Amino acid sequence: MLLRNAKDKINHSEITPKETFLNRRKIILSSSFFLPGYLSGKFLGNNVNAATSKNNEKTLRYSKGYSKLNSDDTLNSKIDITTYNNFYEFGTSKNDPSEKSQDFKAFPWTVDVGGLCLNPRKIDLREYIKDIDLEERIYRLRCVEAWSMVIPWIGIPLSKLLKQFEPVGSAKYIQFETVYRPKEMPGQRSRRILPWPYIEGLRLDEAMNDLTFLAFGLYGELLPNQNGAPIRLVIPWKYGFKSIKSIVKITFTKEEPLNTWKRMAPREYGFFANVNPNVDHPRWSQSRERRIGEFFRRPTLMFNGYAEEVGHMYSGMDLNKFY
Ligand code: MTE
Repeated sequence: MLLRNAKDKINHSEITPKETFLNRRKIILSSSFFLPGYLSGKFLGNNVNAATSKNNEKTLRYSKGYSKLNSDDTLNSKIDITTYNNFYEFGTSKNDPSEKSQDFKAFPWTVDVGGLCLNPRKIDLREYIKDIDLEERIYRLRCVEAWSMVIPWIGIPLSKLLKQFEPVGSAKYIQFETVYRPKEMPGQRSRRILPWPYIEGLRLDEAMNDLTFLAFGLYGELLPNQNGAPIRLVIPWKYGFKSIKSIVKITFTKEEPLNTWKRMAPREYGFFANVNPNVDHPRWSQSRERRIGEFFRRPTLMFNGYAEEVGHMYSGMDLNKFY
């Protein structure tokens, strides 16, 4: 982003052939439940099935949720999704997160939820995930660097979690914070990359919108470290940098939080950062994008194709301006 142009290339030998992932997509889309387990079913309670735990210790149980794909959308392969990443806590190259995150320990994990709410408390993620109904949402992810992917996430709408903390009337925004563990995250050992911890924010109505998703997994399994284990946001109509990874703190606030990229370069990265083909980044066009795995660029869609679901939240805003 700020530090590099979007020149990183994925090695084509690492990309699953199209037939293979189309086939995989059929399998996934046709099964309403994925079975199996984590640590013989004890780890995530009802959300796992111990029967196949010897084959796969990370697979989740979930139902199919909302997925509005266009006819030209194809699920990206697991290899694409887990080797072409942005997670500067592990380094700035696309392959750093998958290659340098082996020492990261995703569990046990606590999320501290507080600020302007009636019921602040810490949640033990293992306990929390145990009995909730997980769903799969297949969303387009559009990075501000003008590449995109289609990813099958597993999780819950963020609103489901937030409601339990009973935000008060003065709560207008929410701030999210990534874990700070320089011993396990080599990128955090240098403050020249970004000021740590990584911070993001949403307006309360954006956070409560049904599309805003809290992901614990992808492709039917717990999140790999490089994709933001064990808990991350997915906000499909905003540039990818809003989808903060490895969250440890959630705070209801009165003022708009200062998100990390806006703090670093306020003329290049905004707070709202809604995907918008009409507003270019100062250093490159946003009118087209490269879908990972495809050769030709395709047009970028307003709100990344989710205008029907989210456009009403920005009715007072001029869509030709940078926010
Ligand atoms: N969250 C943290 N904590 N650190 C990061 O560097 N990168 C963001 C976002 N969340 C980032 C982050 C960016 S720029 C993008 S495009 C997405 O994560 C990429 O998610 P993915 O690697 O799972 O595709």
